Amino acid sequence: MPKITIDNQEIEFENGMTVMQACEQAGSEIPRFCYHEKLSIAGNCRMCLVEMEKAPKPIASCAMPAADGMVIKN
Ligand code: FES
Repeated sequence: MPKITIDNQEIEFENGMTVMQACEQAGSEIPRFCYHEKLSIAGNCRMCLVEMEKAPKPIASCAMPAADGMVIKN
């Protein structure tokens, strides 16, 4: 299974999960406004921003697919 590091904790996630879902699995809840699991992803309120290693700006965790080897700070 692919792995992602969230707040210095490495966890496994399933392919197809977003960064937000992986963070929840790691026990790190992310505030959200426009995201709802039963609606399509709008990704425009920016409330769910997190820091991603090597990214120049914070990313919207609800719209970003989780990828193997990502390092996220919430
Ligand atoms: S919850 Fe609105 S951009 Fe992610």
